Amino acid sequence: MNNKIGTNLEQAKLLLEKNELVAIPTETVYGLAANALHAEAVAKIFAAKNRPNFDPLIVHTHSIENIEHFTQPLEPLAQRLAEAFMPGPLTLLIQKKEIIPDLVTAGSPWVGIRIPKHDLTLNLLKNLSFPVAAPSANPFGFVSPTTAQHVADQLGDKISYILDGGPAKIGLESTVVKVENNEFSVLRLGGLTLEELEEVAGKKVASVKTSSSNPAAPGMLSSHYNPGKKVVFSGWTQLQAQTPASNLGAIVFTKKLPNVLPENQFVLSETGNVNEAAANLFTALRWFSAKNNISTILAESFEPFGLGRAINDRLKRASV
Ligand code: TXA
Ligand code: MG
Repeated sequence: MNNKIGTNLEQAKLLLEKNELVAIPTETVYGLAANALHAEAVAKIFAAKNRPNFDPLIVHTHSIENIEHFTQPLEPLAQRLAEAFMPGPLTLLIQKKEIIPDLVTAGSPWVGIRIPKHDLTLNLLKNLSFPVAAPSANPFGFVSPTTAQHVADQLGDKISYILDGGPAKIGLESTVVKVENNEFSVLRLGGLTLEELEEVAGKKVASVKTSSSNPAAPGMLSSHYNPGKKVVFSGWTQLQAQTPASNLGAIVFTKKLPNVLPENQFVLSETGNVNEAAANLFTALRWFSAKNNISTILAESFEPFGLGRAINDRLKRASV
């Protein structure tokens, strides 16, 4: 399986041109890419992930200038956000042109567009004559992959090639933003913070979607990021009150819990760095997934600002 992992851009390009699936690195998480303009190639993504067709895919391209090949013109606020945060962990919803197949957007007139901040993938995108649709490269409902090996572990037999760009720097998916009538709303919290968005927009966010069962962003289904264990999501002090048991694990920010065996705890950042914690979060969930002796994970909540909000969103959904 491992001969499928490599850094051969030419091979990745040829396979994508043949409408095959290739996993690509980005700064957020690894994506499972296919030619976004070719419905049959896109259909392979849904099949490989076992993903329901109502969940739309993000289209990845290499430059702001290129976006309007696939979309209607950006309104000024969207343009401003694009210039500030692309390439980067921002997905902008823009009204699509017909060239984007309906399967990509699950029938919506809006398409999610993103320019990943990753040199290898930007090079690949520049060398392709089409953009790629790419959801996170994990089976539907599971934790997103932040390394090439994560992708190989779960989807290796379904993908032609995995382009290895090292561990994802951010480790949380992009923030999904919709701009309409000079207002912006967040449909999925992610690697770009509300504070950063509001500063550039010069105004407050109009609304923020968090997990719900009838979501505007279908990837916001309340049960997602499932590590296959019970997850109890709460503050450190409350978690400390849980009855000790040998099958308990814990994901904590900086300080281990006294009521959980130390070897069963994953510290996200010893120095209390939220960026580092975000980058380690999905690795922690995967680590516990594979640990047969653990049946319940205690997960510490973060202060609700900056990346802490997106971390809480993921842990909360892992706990449903
Ligand atoms: O960081 C990321 O965004 C990664 C990397 C690979 O780019 N991609 C990713 O894709 O997380 P995915 O498919 O796992 O999550 C995309 C989510 C969808 O589930 C949905 O919530 C939202 O983005 N989305 C995409 N297109 C949309 C659309 N047209 N309308 C509403 N929501 C959309
Ligand atoms: Mg996903």
